[in-house]
Amino acid sequence: MKILVPATLAPDLQARPDDVVVPYDGDAPIADEHTDADVLVVWAAPPPFLQDAAQRLGALRLVQTLAAGPDAVLAAGFAPSVTVANGRGLHDGPVAEHTLALLLAAVRRLDRLGAAQREHRWDSALGHEQAGPDAPHYTLDGARVTVWGFGSIAARLAPVLALLGAEVTGVARSAGARDGVRVVTETDLPALLPATDVLISLLPATPRTRHALDAARLALLPAHAVLVNVGRGSTVDEAALVDALRAGRLGAAALDVTDTEPLRDGSPLWDAPRTIITPHVAGGRPQGASALVEAQVEALHAGTPLRNVVER
Ligand SMILES: NC(=O)c1ccc[n+]([C@@H]2O[C@H](COP(=O)([O-])OP(=O)(O)OC[C@H]3O[C@@H](n4cnc5c(N)ncnc54)[C@H](OP(=O)(O)O)[C@@H]3O)[C@@H](O)[C@H]2O)c1
Repeated sequence: MKILVPATLAPDLQARPDDVVVPYDGDAPIADEHTDADVLVVWAAPPPFLQDAAQRLGALRLVQTLAAGPDAVLAAGFAPSVTVANGRGLHDGPVAEHTLALLLAAVRRLDRLGAAQREHRWDSALGHEQAGPDAPHYTLDGARVTVWGFGSIAARLAPVLALLGAEVTGVARSAGARDGVRVVTETDLPALLPATDVLISLLPATPRTRHALDAARLALLPAHAVLVNVGRGSTVDEAALVDALRAGRLGAAALDVTDTEPLRDGSPLWDAPRTIITPHVAGGRPQGASALVEAQVEALHAGTPLRNVVER
């Protein structure tokens, strides 16, 4: 079996003697002599590279992306006979940590305090302003946190939120208890969003989730609510989000992902009030990638089920 692997991953990969591991750097198309590959492992590959691979790698059986979200690979046009598997589970720790960092930064207004520090200003008024009954939440203790997209990353994050005193509810495609957390479906959002202090989106980018958080659903959130989006930018109607922030109908937003990346220079999101933006850096360091690829190759050899197969 021939396995094309990003050069950064290749040194760690343990292959069977009868397998050939070919490192590639992703800056140039796959060389003609390797278009007979069985497996293509991809990590942060640019769309033109993926589209070229989809056209020219005629013997492919598996495209294994190390990203949790397979949207870029799905958009490249690989034949339906090619299995696509994602990197679900490789990013749980780092992304849960970044989500928590964004959430605490937004709730504790580190954006405002950072600006004050740069101006050498002692902004101790913040504590008093956030003390009244209608004030924005200044603590996760007792906060009602909704995690929309309750999958692998959410399962890592939820116990940490609970430890800090938050009351966590998940939203997924099917309802029921998951990891001890109550999970509901989108049909419950009209009742859930008005009772949400913090909305964390970990939704994947699919045709179904485009602008899932639109103007109507934003309007259901309390005016003090904090939005944290670490899933995909396409899931939020950014114009409606900016309107809500400017009008004071939303407490704060902390975004690691935007609809267009990099966020364009003229986007109103850059200067939206009470908004923190990080440049899609929550993940970026897959943990256990070699073990996943080795298990997938073994499964192909053995004819047993692959992990993380993406529906399409
Ligand atoms: N910012 C970053 O650097 C970064 C890094 C890694 C991942 N991500 C993003 O985070 C996403 C989640 O990662 P993960 O590993 O947790 O994925 P996951 O385990 O596949 O979880 C995705 C969850 O979304 C739910 N979902 C999908 N479509 C939905 C819909 N229409 N309505 C409600 N729920 C829906 C799924 O519900 P079911 O369980 O019921 O199917 C599942 O619980 C990825 O897809 C990726 O876009 C971002």
